[in-house]
Order: sequence, then structure tokens, then C-alpha cells
Amino acid sequence: MALTRIDVTGVRNLQPVTLHPSPRINIISGANGSGKTSLLEAIHILGLARSFRSTRLQPVIQYEKQSCTVYGELQSGSSAKHSLGVTRDREADYQIRIDGRTANAASELATILPLQLINPDSFRLLEGAPKQRRQFLDWGVFHVEHQFLATWQRLQKALKQRNSLLRRGRIDRSVLAVWDSELVAAGERIDAFRQHYISRLKPVFEATLGSLLDLEGLSLSYNRGWDKDRTLQAVLESQLDRDVQIGHTQAGPQRADLRLRIRGLNAVEVLSRGQQKLVVSAMKIAQGVLLKDLGRGSSCLYLVDDLPSELDKKHREALCQLLSSLECQIFITCVEASQLHGSWDGDTPLAMFHVEHGHIMQTE
Ligand SMILES: Nc1ncnc2c1ncn2[C@@H]1O[C@H](COP(=O)(O)OP(=O)(O)OP(=O)(O)O)[C@@H](O)[C@H]1O
Ligand SMILES: [Mg+2]
Repeated sequence: MALTRIDVTGVRNLQPVTLHPSPRINIISGANGSGKTSLLEAIHILGLARSFRSTRLQPVIQYEKQSCTVYGELQSGSSAKHSLGVTRDREADYQIRIDGRTANAASELATILPLQLINPDSFRLLEGAPKQRRQFLDWGVFHVEHQFLATWQRLQKALKQRNSLLRRGRIDRSVLAVWDSELVAAGERIDAFRQHYISRLKPVFEATLGSLLDLEGLSLSYNRGWDKDRTLQAVLESQLDRDVQIGHTQAGPQRADLRLRIRGLNAVEVLSRGQQKLVVSAMKIAQGVLLKDLGRGSSCLYLVDDLPSELDKKHREALCQLLSSLECQIFITCVEASQLHGSWDGDTPLAMFHVEHGHIMQTE
């Protein structure tokens, strides 16, 4: 799966541009503030209808412009082609078009264009709140398990209803029982999907990390969000009084987390910054590898912002080698293109772009 054409209009400081990227490695170089991250942001919008830099799309629209639009043509497999378009007008919500029709949900884009982003914020996967790691986990489950999205929506609805009941004070037990049973049914399925996924991801992650870094004893484990020895039903019943006191449901898959530990300690408290970057990259690359193995023949597209930062030459080259072995389409930014020279095999299809004050030019 690869984007064969990208049109960007009205995004940040970028001048309107049409690109025909390489199906494999694309390197985007340019000075600080030239617009490199903005191009990755545009591709991200095409895959998810949202930015990774701001929660709203409004700040992405170029100053003085009324709207921004990203359009892309995608070749997936040997036959299937898709056209994708996302527009955000200052006065209106965003609009998504897929193959000429209006789509209702961003999840439709995500299904067609699975994206993995590796950028300075990716450190949050290690140091941030559990929500970051749940999102990471659920990205993988979503792309390989058809039933995930519908089950997750059921879970959210049951949780919302149960929590509003808890806050109401006097609880109607028969209504509570209905939402409890819905929460348990959806929650246990979500947990089963996640467990199954993690058991497949772990060996791929360990092998991926091994090719990047010499690091003994790092373990990845999954915590489902409630006592591992009791059913969710039993936990909900025993914690009801406390749930009523605090006004929300404490235990359940909404509290799941991943743990990365080394020698019994939290990995983020032990690893150097460069090591953290490699661990996070290995986690995200492992997801892409697994997607290729499990997920309906699809592969994902990687956006790697500022690849060279934090990494010495040896580890930079190891990461480039690993990325090029993925046979995925990858967009990599760096300040100086020379930082990534010599990191690719001679036959790797490579396109080079240079950005200056929002102008993107293909140089190779
Ligand atoms: N809505 C907007 N309209 C126009 N310009 C914007 C808008 N938002 C941000 N900018 C400007 O766009 C420029 C591009 O920023 P971008 O983050 O893409 O640069 P970069 O090449 O990734 O730089 P760095 O190497 O520092 O990461 C910045 O100068 C920024 O001030
Ligand atoms: Mg940048």
C-alpha cells in the first residue's frame, strides 16, 4: 500500500503542491520552520482526519486562508486504488471523501490508510499516561480484528450509562444490572482481543528491538484493568460502593495498560533518551510488521519526524536499515539530507524532497 499522489493546499506554511512520492523511502529535508513536519501533518490528516500537533484542525489552516485540503491517491495491493480527500473549512467541520463519496467517520480513512507516526511526542508512549499505551494497543487490535470497533463502541456506551447512573445517587438496581452485564460482555471481549494481540506482538517487538539495540531484560506486559484472578462482574459488584462514592467505574478495560520494565523498574526511569527513542520505534515498527502478517494483506505507512535526533550514527543506520527492510512507504524528515546518506541499500527506491519556506521541491 502506498500513496502515489499527494495534493496539499492551505496547510500551515506549505505552498500548494502535488507530490508523486516513492512507494518506499521518502526523505524530506529543510531548515527549521521550513515546513517538513507540516507535510507529515498533511499526510496524517489524510489518514485520520486530524493533526498530531493540535487537537483541532483549525490551527492547521494557513493564515488568511479559508480552508485546507489534502487529497491522496492510494495504490493498495496490485489492483485496488483509492482516492481520499479531507477538507477543513474555517466555518465548517471537516469533510471526508473516499472514492468520490462522502464518508461519515474517520475510522473509514484509518481502515484504508493505516498510519504509524514516530515523532518526539512518541516518547509519551513510555512516560505518558496509560491512555497513550491503550491507544497504541488499540491501533493494533483495530487493524487486525474486524469486531473491535463495534465492541469498543458498545463498551463506551455501557460505561457512559453506568457512570451517569452512579452519579445520580439513588441507583435503580435493575437498570444497573443491565449496564453491568453489557459492560462485562463488551469488556471481556475487548480484553480477549487485546490479550490475543499482545501475545502476537511480544515476540515481534522483541525481535525488532534486538535488531536496533543491545538491551537485556526489557519486558513488555499487559494489564487488563481489573484483578487478573476475578471476573469483571465480581469486581464491579465488590467495588460498587466505592464507584458510587467517586462517581465513576474504577475497574475495567478502560483502565488497561502496557508495562515496559527493565530489571523490575519502569523502563522510562532507566533508559537513556536515545534508547527510549529506539524502544518506541521498535514498538511502532513491530505493529506494522504484525499488521502485514495478520491484517488482510494491508501494510501501514510510516511518518518519521526528525529521524536523526537523539541517535548516534550506528543507531541511526540500524533504524534506517530496519525501516527499509519493512517494504512499506515511509516519509522521513531531517534537517540535513546528509544525515541520512549511506543508510540505504543501493536498490532501495528513494525519493528526496527539499523544503524551503513552505516550497517543496523533489531533488532526486
Ligand atoms: N496556520 C499556519 N499558517 C501559516 N504558517 C504556519 C501556520 N502554523 C504554523 N505555521 C508556520 O509553519 C512553519 C512550518 O513549521 P514546521 O513545523 O512544518 O517546520 P519544520 O520544517 O518541521 O521545522 P523544524 O525543523 O523546526 O521541526 C513554521 O514557521 C510555523 O511558524
Ligand atoms: Mg519539524
